[in-house]
Amino acid sequence: MIELVNVAKHYGDKIALKDLNLKIREGEIFGFLGHNGAGKSTTIKCLVSTINPTSGDIFFDNQKLGDNRLAIKKTIGYVPDTPDLFLQLTANEYWNLIAVAFSLSEDTKNQQIAKYTKLFDFENKGNELLDNFSHGMRQKAILIGALLSDPDVWILDEPMQGLDPQAAFDLKELMKAHAAKGKTVIFSTHVLDTAQQLCDELAILKQGELIYNGSVDELLASAGDESLESVYLKMAGRQSEQQTSAVINSESSEA
Ligand SMILES: Nc1ncnc2c1ncn2[C@@H]1O[C@H](COP(=O)(O)OP(=O)(O)OP(=O)(O)O)[C@@H](O)[C@H]1O
Ligand SMILES: [Mg+2]
Repeated sequence: MIELVNVAKHYGDKIALKDLNLKIREGEIFGFLGHNGAGKSTTIKCLVSTINPTSGDIFFDNQKLGDNRLAIKKTIGYVPDTPDLFLQLTANEYWNLIAVAFSLSEDTKNQQIAKYTKLFDFENKGNELLDNFSHGMRQKAILIGALLSDPDVWILDEPMQGLDPQAAFDLKELMKAHAAKGKTVIFSTHVLDTAQQLCDELAILKQGELIYNGSVDELLASAGDESLESVYLKMAGRQSEQQTSAVINSESSEA
C-alpha cells in the first residue's frame, strides 16, 4: 500500500498541492483526474521522488519514501508527463541507460525489449534518435523504458497521450493484467471514458485539493443516472452548460 499523509507542495506563494491524504492499494488501478494545473503531475512527481513535497510524508509499504528513496525507486516504473526527454539518444541507448540504472542483465533487457517492441509495433526502431520520432513514437519509447525492469509499481502520467488506438488499447490491457497480478497501477488522465473503463479508485483534484476519492461506481451512484462527464464537470469544472454557453457567446460577440 502507498500512503500519502498531509502531502503539500508550494512553489513560492503558489500552492500546487494542499495537504493531500490518500491510500493506494495493490491490485487496484488508481486514477487521478483534474483540470489542467489541478496538481496531478505534482502528486505523481512527489510519488516518484523527482520533487520533494514541501511538507507531509509518503509511505510505500510503511517505508518512508524520504528515508528509502533508492530502494523504493527501484520498484517503480514511471512515465512522465512529457516524452520529450533524452532526445539526443537513440531508443536503444535510452533503454540501455535504464537497464544499467535498474541493474538488468543483458538477457532480461533483450527479452523485455523484444516483448514490448513487438506489442507496440516498434520493432527495428531502436537505432533511431528519439528526436526524430513523432510524439506518439517517443511516448512508446518512454513507455517501453518504464516497463523494462518489470517494476511492481507503475506510475504513469497521462500515458495514453499521443498513442494510436491500438497502442492505447494494448496499454490498457497491460495495466489491467498488472493490477490483476496484485501489483499497483497509478495513472492520470483527462479521458473520462478511460477512467471509467480502468479505475477501481479515483482521486479528483481541483486547484491542489482532493475533492473526491472513491470508486467510479460510488461516484456515479451518488449522482442518479448522470454520466461521468456530467458528474465530473459539476465537481471540477463549471457548474452548468449554460455557463459555458455564456462564455462562448461573450467571446464571439467581442470578436
Ligand atoms: N516548477 C514549477 N514551478 C512553479 N509552479 C509549478 C511548477 N510545476 C507546477 N507548478 C504549478 O503547480 C500547479 C499544479 O501543476 P501540475 O503540473 O501538477 O498540474 P496537472 O494537474 O498535472 O495539470 P495538467 O493536466 O495540465 O498536466 C499549477 O498551478 C502549476 O502552475
Ligand atoms: Mg500534468
